[in-house]
Amino acid sequence: MSQMTLPVKRSWGETQRRDAWWKTPVFVFLMLSAFLVYANIRVFEGDNYYSGHSTAEANRATNYLTPFYSPLMFEVESRAATPSGHAWLSSGRPGWLPAWLSPAALILIFPAGFRFTCYYYRGAYYKAFWQDPPSCAVGEPRNEYRGEHRWPLLIQNIHRYFMYCAVVFLFILALDAWHGLHFRKPDGSWRWGIGVGSIVLLLNVVFLSGYTLGCHSFRHLVGGHRNAMSEQAFKHKLWKCSTCLNEKHMAWAWTSLIWVAFSDVYVRLCATGTWTDFHIVF
Ligand code: FES
Repeated sequence: MSQMTLPVKRSWGETQRRDAWWKTPVFVFLMLSAFLVYANIRVFEGDNYYSGHSTAEANRATNYLTPFYSPLMFEVESRAATPSGHAWLSSGRPGWLPAWLSPAALILIFPAGFRFTCYYYRGAYYKAFWQDPPSCAVGEPRNEYRGEHRWPLLIQNIHRYFMYCAVVFLFILALDAWHGLHFRKPDGSWRWGIGVGSIVLLLNVVFLSGYTLGCHSFRHLVGGHRNAMSEQAFKHKLWKCSTCLNEKHMAWAWTSLIWVAFSDVYVRLCATGTWTDFHIVF
């Protein structure tokens, strides 16, 4: 019988696994890289974040704001029509904000911080980007385990605070989806309606809610600090709902990430006039 000494020392990439273990890290690397590149392009574009176009035939305007620029902090001179009076801070670019800095850069700190510190994504990008390790039972390019109890990775503990922000963003995006159900008539009045963009923005809230409300920190928020859950029927129910979402946390993470990017693409292409939104107004 062969003998093994512990801990097992493997060279980088060495493993006895026979499955295609490298597929997941490659997928994660490609997907996250593509998202990061796209998000950065959109952040610094600083335009085409609102689709308020009306067509002569349709005789009404859509009211879609991309999640990348939500909440609308201020209105800018833009090629695309911008909503009037909807900005949270001011009607024009505030003087304290450098001209090169897009509002999306300030907004995306919160959802990006939430994802970056997510327990699932940490495991995924540690493997895909840092090879730490490349996958389970596969040799890594370093000999010591530093963990997350020392700087700089100690910062990952901030996750629960980003979770509070992410919950607030759910309400903000739900408000945008609500606005997406309103269409402006030429006389300035608003009518109920539903368009492809409305559905895109509604689904964005659904997927982001599935991801956020299944967060480990959210589960702890609603179910932690209790000795006997059975005595707190409402909290127990909340915790069970969150646990149910948490069991599919990885699926919610990817679905919501892809959909938030698609929502932005959709609104951008409508804003530039490349796509025409199909909708009905009641
Ligand atoms: S653990 Fe993934 S969002 Fe909190």
